[in-house]
Amino acid sequence: MALSESLDNISLGKIVVIREQLMKAQAAGQTVYRLESGDPSFSLAPHVLQALQAAAAAGKTHYIPNDGIPQLRVALRDKLRRKNGIAAVTENDVFVTNGAMHALFVTFSCLLAEGDEVIVPDPMWTEVVENIKLAGGVPVGVPLKFEQGFEYDLADIRARLTPRTKAIFLNTPHNPTGAVLSKETLLEIAAIAEERGLWIISDEAYEDVLYAPNHHHSIASLAPHYLEQIISVYSFSKSYAMSGLRVGCIVTTSPTLQGRIPKLLRCTINGVNSVAQWAALAALEGPQDQLAEMQAEYALRRSLLLEALQGIEGLRPFAPKGGFCLWAQLDPSLYARLGLANADELSEWLAQQGIGSAPGDAFGETCHDAIRFAFSCDTGMVRHGALALRQALTGVPAVEGLR
Ligand SMILES: Cc1ncc(COP(=O)(O)O)c(C=O)c1O
Repeated sequence: MALSESLDNISLGKIVVIREQLMKAQAAGQTVYRLESGDPSFSLAPHVLQALQAAAAAGKTHYIPNDGIPQLRVALRDKLRRKNGIAAVTENDVFVTNGAMHALFVTFSCLLAEGDEVIVPDPMWTEVVENIKLAGGVPVGVPLKFEQGFEYDLADIRARLTPRTKAIFLNTPHNPTGAVLSKETLLEIAAIAEERGLWIISDEAYEDVLYAPNHHHSIASLAPHYLEQIISVYSFSKSYAMSGLRVGCIVTTSPTLQGRIPKLLRCTINGVNSVAQWAALAALEGPQDQLAEMQAEYALRRSLLLEALQGIEGLRPFAPKGGFCLWAQLDPSLYARLGLANADELSEWLAQQGIGSAPGDAFGETCHDAIRFAFSCDTGMVRHGALALRQALTGVPAVEGLR
């Protein structure tokens, strides 16, 4: 009997394979450095944990409104106005989802008809492309270039527009490169979209993970006259280390989408886990000091990794402007020196030594000669992992001179 064809084009991903290999090694007592994984090491802030427990104790464990508890939608509205500068948004424009992943699934499923093309950055976090395909869409990759700080090249976007183009997807800060889109680039993307009547989908899951002097800009705040065609996606996973609690949201003022999203929310989750929503409310309304502490810690990890990867022949690291991934361009001479054939083999070889990574081609078609290291695991692990990585790549025992 035939099974759903749309799933046949979806892979479980190379990162999952590496992750499982490292977890097995870890369980067997081997020292591992989880530089493949994008899960923040931080604990919940005490007031968030308290809200989670209090909600459960108070019996707030029943069915809740499909689109999100009203208090959370209102708090998100206030945050979107205050922090993201999206002035015209109301609580009715906010739909609470099971993380940003589910927000993307719902958005693409509500928006795309079979064969609709969506412009995406190449490289891109794999699940974006997979969710476009699941919805029957066709991802059209625009290669990002080191020399341009991995920002979208606007001429390259224009060159890929066709009569089937429905939307431009953007992600800032960007996973996997750490690029942050400038205000100017965002304005020009909005202008291209407006010229062609395209939708914009803006994934801002890493809005709070930034390195000075970079700033996050929400495209919806920059093109208020085009707001109805801009869909913004947010997450509590990275900002508040709530990855396992699964809370995110879709923000859209489009009446068409507002009529469609609730149907899909109802049929997929029927509302996000109630206690997780109360915790998310506490995260938004409580003290925000943890954000600064987290940013400082990420900045330290970033410099540890950057230092460790300086001056390695055949490896060119990009200093991320945001997010917690370090992307490095590879020269084939590096593989030759290590007796390996390509970035896949390099990742595999590093995993055998307990060092996690993700090969470039896990993120796109033009990224064979690249590798990604995440620094979301704890600082001690990043510190020692960075040394182990340098030693593996240079053959020279690394000195504990790094901070
Ligand atoms: C670019 C990007 N968007 C969205 C997500 C999904 O985040 P979550 O589903 O945990 O909210 C991730 C997770 O790594 C991501 O990298």
